[in-house]
Amino acid sequence: GTMTLIAILAGDGIGPEVTAQARRVLTALAPDLMFEEGLVGGAAYRAQGHPLPPETLALARRSDAVLFGAVGDPAFDALERAMRPEQAILGLRKGLGLFANLRPAKLFAGLEDASALKPEIARRIDLVIVRELTGDVYFGDKGRRLTSTGLREGHDLMRYDEVEVARIARVGFETARTRRGKLLSVDKANVLETSQVWRDVVNEVARDFRDVELGHMYVDNAAMQLVRDPGQFDTIVTGNLFGDILSDQASMCAGSIGMLPSAALGSGTLGMYEPIHGSAPDIAGQGKANPCAAILSAAMLLRHSLARPEPADRIEAAVAAAILAGARTADLGGTMSTEAMGDAIMAQLG
Ligand code: NAD
Ligand code: IPM
Ligand code: MN
Repeated sequence: GTMTLIAILAGDGIGPEVTAQARRVLTALAPDLMFEEGLVGGAAYRAQGHPLPPETLALARRSDAVLFGAVGDPAFDALERAMRPEQAILGLRKGLGLFANLRPAKLFAGLEDASALKPEIARRIDLVIVRELTGDVYFGDKGRRLTSTGLREGHDLMRYDEVEVARIARVGFETARTRRGKLLSVDKANVLETSQVWRDVVNEVARDFRDVELGHMYVDNAAMQLVRDPGQFDTIVTGNLFGDILSDQASMCAGSIGMLPSAALGSGTLGMYEPIHGSAPDIAGQGKANPCAAILSAAMLLRHSLARPEPADRIEAAVAAAILAGARTADLGGTMSTEAMGDAIMAQLG
């Protein structure tokens, strides 16, 4: 039919708290949307004995887009890996073929004081990390065993093939094209064979994107440069693990992990949208979480899965205006509750 369905997978900890605010904003700007909630993560394990019940995956598949909160619960950290809450998000990414993760990081005016960097350095951050999402050590062969000498041993295989690298490289080049035309591929090719394949393939794909300026950097240097001068970066393309780590780091350059949204995309229009942060058990249930990352993820949903750029722009402008007007949750040095922050953004929407 013509009805647009959004699957809401709120999950654990602060997931439901921040997702509720994102849903409010979506409802205000796109009243035609239908929402259906699904169980995921620890919440699903508790209710159904599995972190990603088949009906949740099926709901995601038949939806036009997924709004995801967070998964993870310390109560389940000792479960066998397949049953842990985090497997739900990995299963959704893999199951839906969402191989490209866009993680934009920019400093909203007024948050200079919240950044871990000096204001004049922080002000320059405006980058996007294009993180590969369905490969790398996350999905390579894993195992634990006792060695012949009785030592506990664990392994996780890092691997990428050229098809996986080429398709994420293309997303990187295409993203750079819509921005300042600079793509930096981050790897560890001085040590890792996986990274040498990565670098070779990125260089090959570059022939189709002569208008984009391509560079390469080792991940350790990239981590250093990100806090030395984040303004030098435009678009960064990197593997699953490096992208995970660098995006959390970038968030503190921009003021808080509570500010960074993400879009997980595949080859079609179905996407999953979520803050880059986790379930934050240390503040869960206290109404302290910053909902901006979730609200900005809703904006990405409108832009990327629903092709509705105008309401997406309006959401981003409302977040910027609320912040400029002084709206601050605790992570940003303020005292507002999650809901009050949502109110401040709704008020800017008019
Ligand atoms: P986390 O991102 O949940 O929290 C890290 C720190 O940032 C905490 O001090 C937390 O209070 C703070 N924080 C995070 N989001 C915030 C927000 N919106 N507003 C204010 N403060 C915020 O990372 P963690 O503590 O390493 O992991 C907690 C759990 O979440 C673990 O089970 C982990 O596996 C899971 N996790 C899930 C996702 C996801 O679902 N996408 C992402 C990361 C971690
Ligand atoms: C993220 C999270 C996940 C990841 C975990 C929870 C599996 O840290 O979305 O950044 O590592 O991808
Ligand atoms: Mn992460």
